[in-house]
Amino acid sequence: MDDNKSKGKILIYGGSGGVGAKLASLLHQRGYDLHLVGRDEDKLSNLAANLNCEFTVGDVRDDTLFKQVMKDAGHICGLVYAVGTINLASIRRVKSSDLLDDFTVNSVGAALAVQAALSVLKKAEGRGAVVLFSSVAAHTGFALHSSISMAKGAVEGLVVALAAELAPNIRVNGIAPSLTLTPLSEKIVGSEQIREAVARQHPLQRLGEADDVARMAEFLVLPESDWITGQIFKVDGGRSTLATTG
Ligand SMILES: NC(=O)c1ccc[n+]([C@@H]2O[C@H](COP(=O)([O-])OP(=O)(O)OC[C@H]3O[C@@H](n4cnc5c(N)ncnc54)[C@H](OP(=O)(O)O)[C@@H]3O)[C@@H](O)[C@H]2O)c1
Repeated sequence: MDDNKSKGKILIYGGSGGVGAKLASLLHQRGYDLHLVGRDEDKLSNLAANLNCEFTVGDVRDDTLFKQVMKDAGHICGLVYAVGTINLASIRRVKSSDLLDDFTVNSVGAALAVQAALSVLKKAEGRGAVVLFSSVAAHTGFALHSSISMAKGAVEGLVVALAAELAPNIRVNGIAPSLTLTPLSEKIVGSEQIREAVARQHPLQRLGEADDVARMAEFLVLPESDWITGQIFKVDGGRSTLATTG
């Protein structure tokens, strides 16, 4: 930590995940307090011991989680919702329950997390900031991605609506990563061969690392970005906007 005085507390849903844990570590080094949320108590308690912070265990599919989190977290100045799914399926096979579950975990959970935190974020003296996660698949078409593209498209709608509704007190931004090496993407890029093939589809010729995405989340949740709201930042090695030459 830079000094012994906390600069404020940041709440991270998905704080034990690839991006969430990396972000927690970056913010801890900058002198911020943290509160982490996830389902796996062992993972959370190990991390919390290292970062000297508290955590709440629960599933975002359970609406009662959000009030409990705010009770546990207390005063926060930033909220990051880094929870997500990647369930790839053909439109021929996808079930309404799969579509609804992806929507619940990625989009409804994000909305309920912000709703529960509103009154506290408003008191953060203009420093209140929210960061939500979309995906490259919300604006670039990939086969088998209908469910996650729908769910993340909704997150992007949520970002702009909330940014308008909550300005000037609370800033709201989103990050749309391409394939990033975390536990979430493990099942998609299981083999070295697949990893290399997908990396080549990115103009920058590699897959994302948790650090690439966490550094953008760090910037957006902290006052360094205090004239930025209602934006979606593509952290994707150029995949969504540039043609690959290879
Ligand atoms: N990695 C990628 O390639 C990629 C690409 C595009 C977008 N994104 C987005 O980036 C964000 C961060 O993803 P990541 O790669 O860091 O994922 P990750 O490594 O799988 O981490 C996900 C985190 O969310 C928690 N979580 C998952 N489902 C939950 C639930 N139902 N209730 C409560 N907590 C839950 C996990 O905790 P437990 O382990 O305890 O369940 C974990 O802490 C997500 O929004 C994801 O959709 C990622």
